[in-house]
Amino acid sequence: MTLLGRSSIVAAAAAVMVTAMGGAHAQETFRIAVGDAAGGTQHELGKAFIEELEARTKGAYTAKLYMNGQLGDEQNTVNDAAMGLLDFSILAINNVTPFSPTVGLLTLPYVIRSVDDAEKLTQGEIGKELVENTIRDAGVRVVGWAYSGCRVLTNSERPVATPADLEGLVIRVPKNEIMIDAYRSWGVNPTPMAWSETFTALQLGVVDGQDNPYITVHAMKFYEVQKYITDICYIFSIEPLIVSESVFQGLPPEVQTAVLEAGAAATKHSAAFLRAQEESIRADLVAKGMEITEPADGEAEWIKRATEAVWPKFHEAIGGKEKLDQALAALGRTS
Ligand code: MLT
Repeated sequence: MTLLGRSSIVAAAAAVMVTAMGGAHAQETFRIAVGDAAGGTQHELGKAFIEELEARTKGAYTAKLYMNGQLGDEQNTVNDAAMGLLDFSILAINNVTPFSPTVGLLTLPYVIRSVDDAEKLTQGEIGKELVENTIRDAGVRVVGWAYSGCRVLTNSERPVATPADLEGLVIRVPKNEIMIDAYRSWGVNPTPMAWSETFTALQLGVVDGQDNPYITVHAMKFYEVQKYITDICYIFSIEPLIVSESVFQGLPPEVQTAVLEAGAAATKHSAAFLRAQEESIRADLVAKGMEITEPADGEAEWIKRATEAVWPKFHEAIGGKEKLDQALAALGRTS
């Protein structure tokens, strides 16, 4: 659905809703762009959202998922939604940060270290503030969160246990300054690349490695082109469901409420999916031939280098050092 024709659509939708969502004779279908392939947390969030939306609007509203970047690269979908050319998108938070710098708080290395941490930050006061900032800065509203697990490092060449082992490897990262700087702190200059190009680049050997959660590595079939995993947890992957703010504002109030409630219910489902599935997906990657290396010294050097180099550099972008301190306090830590 585009902004063109939106007013007539909204009017028709309102008429449907006014009939108490009963005896509805028209159904509205939103388009949801999804960056990943089927089978991962983005897909789970999307399916749960649609089911909940249909239930809450008695079938007057539904949505269709366009998987695997069919509607464009994740970063481009933010622009499209901001302009009202796209209704919804599910994408990694790191691909929202370039448009809404304060959400960089969620991708600072080693801040969020577990799904519990991720839930606390995204569903608490800090999350509410980031949602408001993203509407203001990027013209899109986060209505749900998928939780995908720690971004582990994969490569096709050799086991990597220390930052020094990265020497000579060409690593793809999203076009995200925080992630680029994390790799620089480990002594390598990574290659920023759109998500939609990543599988092919790994397959052709244009890059040797990348990082993403176990569930994403599995859904994207990276085991076909990558052999080694390093079990680091420098970023916990959070993948929001965003809606175009102009589309959202054009909806009748009861549909806005249904969208928000469906997003909240889908968020709960996502956390449960991760908790239930991550271990068996990790085991399946090993069964498919991948080899997992634990980072040396409990990841101490990775953590020290990335936090010392990256945190101070991005204090201003995330809204001040106090925002980081506030997040750490909410997680019951000081570092
Ligand atoms: C990325 O690496 O660009 C994203 O994390 C991909 C994703 O959405 O899973």
